[in-house]
Amino acid sequence: MGILQIKNLTKIYGKDETEVKALNNINIKINKGEFVAIIGKSGSGKSTLLHIMAGLETPTSGHVIIEDINISSLNEKQQSILWREKIGLIFQSYNLIPALTVEENIKLPTININNKNDNYVDELMLLLSINDRKEHLPHQLSGGQQQRVAIARALINKPSIILADEPTGNLDTKSESEVLNLLKKSQKKYNQTIIMITHNMNIAKYAGRVIKIEDGVIRE
Ligand SMILES: Nc1ncnc2c1ncn2[C@@H]1O[C@H](COP(=O)(O)OP(=O)(O)OP(=O)(O)O)[C@@H](O)[C@H]1O
Ligand SMILES: [Mg+2]
Repeated sequence: MGILQIKNLTKIYGKDETEVKALNNINIKINKGEFVAIIGKSGSGKSTLLHIMAGLETPTSGHVIIEDINISSLNEKQQSILWREKIGLIFQSYNLIPALTVEENIKLPTININNKNDNYVDELMLLLSINDRKEHLPHQLSGGQQQRVAIARALINKPSIILADEPTGNLDTKSESEVLNLLKKSQKKYNQTIIMITHNMNIAKYAGRVIKIEDGVIRE
């Protein structure tokens, strides 16, 4: 079953001499439980694609369908429910809240969620080796530690879809393989679908399927 479908997706930025066709008629179908890597050079359209999949940017034309729902048809409230309950997002820049501690940042998506599981916060912090930094603020952390906080925040609600933009871009090889193995473990345990952007073929090997993007066009 297709959990996420991209249909005839095009994204054009700017116009006239500044026009950039970031995505050019993209079609992708991703099944539940798949771990997909999207690989491509800098500027090929990876982040644009991920942001549109997440409903953070609107396409120029085409559709994103998540569990049979066209996300452009959702109102603001439905969209925020989608983010909170179904999608875990890991951004290329971590987007942590500067005034909140590590633990508070991770727990942010659980606000308004009924069956909170505090043990899972502790488990994630331990698994990501940030448990000794739980009272720290983001600016007191290294880039790699901030990245791991962002990963824990994306996993906290056990979302059915995880969208990750270079989730290990700031990690050394050892932490990188730890994080990727953790994502894989989470994927298996909770039957999650992972869509992960990278420009590194070694990282793409963790995925079950690799989609290549070149100048806004898919080459699978
Ligand atoms: N807000 C914007 N306005 C204008 N052009 C943009 C905008 N965002 C992205 N672009 C252009 O769209 C193209 C795709 O950008 P995108 O950020 O998706 O690339 P990427 O594959 O994620 O690259 P990287 O690996 O460097 O993160 C680039 O040519 C970029 O210059
Ligand atoms: Mg990018």
